[in-house]
Amino acid sequence: MAGRPTRDDAWQLLTEHTDNPSLIKHALAVEAAMRAYARRFGEDEEAWGIIGLIHDFDYQQNPTEATHLHVGTAILADRGWPQDWIRTVASHADYMGVPRDSLAAKALFAVDELTGFLTACALVRPDTAIAEVKVKSVKKKLKDKAFARGVNRDDVRRGADELGVELDEHIAFVRDAMAGIADQLGLPPAAA
Ligand SMILES: [Fe+2]
Ligand SMILES: [Fe+2]
Repeated sequence: MAGRPTRDDAWQLLTEHTDNPSLIKHALAVEAAMRAYARRFGEDEEAWGIIGLIHDFDYQQNPTEATHLHVGTAILADRGWPQDWIRTVASHADYMGVPRDSLAAKALFAVDELTGFLTACALVRPDTAIAEVKVKSVKKKLKDKAFARGVNRDDVRRGADELGVELDEHIAFVRDAMAGIADQLGLPPAAA
């Protein structure tokens, strides 16, 4: 790859390996949250957004711990993607053993599971815009083990902790970032 990958490169890479609409929406949600946190921390918004967009690009074809990210990071390296971006992508799964030693890595881990949880929270109230989903109700659902049971609660709390953002604030922040692209995420739009 000549020069730094662009968002177009990232989108192409993602859609080359992924056609599952839920996984595309997950990628877009994580991108939006990463962009918002990059702006907040005065970091490289484009880089953070692209990292968010591609963090699971190999997942549809490689959904196991033995393959997810092992395959993806090899493809990224092969295509000449920046080493530090590849490291950040790899660090979102504990089993890869890559320490989350950058702010981007901490942010990626912190938003990954939470975007999925917020999507589930928004979808159970189809008449309510995601922007109107209350932090209090999200926290209540976090305690309800039967709700969105695929989401690892521990990772949600640990992510906010590692990033150094209060859980309440983190939930509201990621919710608002997702609300900005609610239509692309197939979530209830803001009330007219
Ligand atoms: Fe992943
Ligand atoms: Fe993910």
